[in-house]
Amino acid sequence: MSYQIAIDGPAGAGKSTIAKKVAKIKEFIYVDTGAMYRAMAYFLLSSHVDPKDGKAVESACAGADITIQYRNGEQVVLLNGENVNGVIRTEEVGNMASITSQNHKVRERLTVLQKELAAKNNVVMDGRDIGTCVLPGADVKVYLTASARVRAQRRWDELTAKGVSCDIKQIEEDIVKRDQQDMNREIAPLKQAPDAVLIDSSSMTIGEVVQAILDLCK
Ligand code: DC
Repeated sequence: MSYQIAIDGPAGAGKSTIAKKVAKIKEFIYVDTGAMYRAMAYFLLSSHVDPKDGKAVESACAGADITIQYRNGEQVVLLNGENVNGVIRTEEVGNMASITSQNHKVRERLTVLQKELAAKNNVVMDGRDIGTCVLPGADVKVYLTASARVRAQRRWDELTAKGVSCDIKQIEEDIVKRDQQDMNREIAPLKQAPDAVLIDSSSMTIGEVVQAILDLCK
């Protein structure tokens, strides 16, 4: 039986940073499920599909073959055989993913892939519905959050460090909008599983959060 660590939480809570570090220490694979939803959104954007048209999303998503590979320990998302890691991190793709991930066909396709990965490997998997839907029997479940203000500040710091000029108020508004979409959708909404441990990282360091999760694995 594989060992499964599920980390869910809202956009910008630091899930991927934390999950990567925990995976490295435990020598597990890290599965970034958001990247899969982003790859699907990128495909739908490139195909000029209206994200609000459920039927169009449903039929178009059948044309996206999404797979995962690991190269030098890094997750590489392949969309119809092409590495899309470099093009899925934009706000545009993230916002599209938040809408198109509401579609049940999109979720069905990606959830199968996520369950397969977790059945074959010890995993740290992060997303929105991992503890509630994808891996309900996970050994450790964490709901990682932080205030919208802190999450916006972290994102602003990240973008500014890369030389991208941005407006912190706009970032915070986008974060709040994305939270609402992800928490209030019909299928697999973002919520804390009853048996998940809540970690609010607003005033914690990355090291403290990593240690808290490692302690839960003992
Ligand atoms: O974690 P992220 O920002 O890369 O995720 C992008 C979007 O994908 C997010 O707003 C909602 C969706 N998503 C999802 O519905 N279920 C997941 N397990 C992961 C992401």
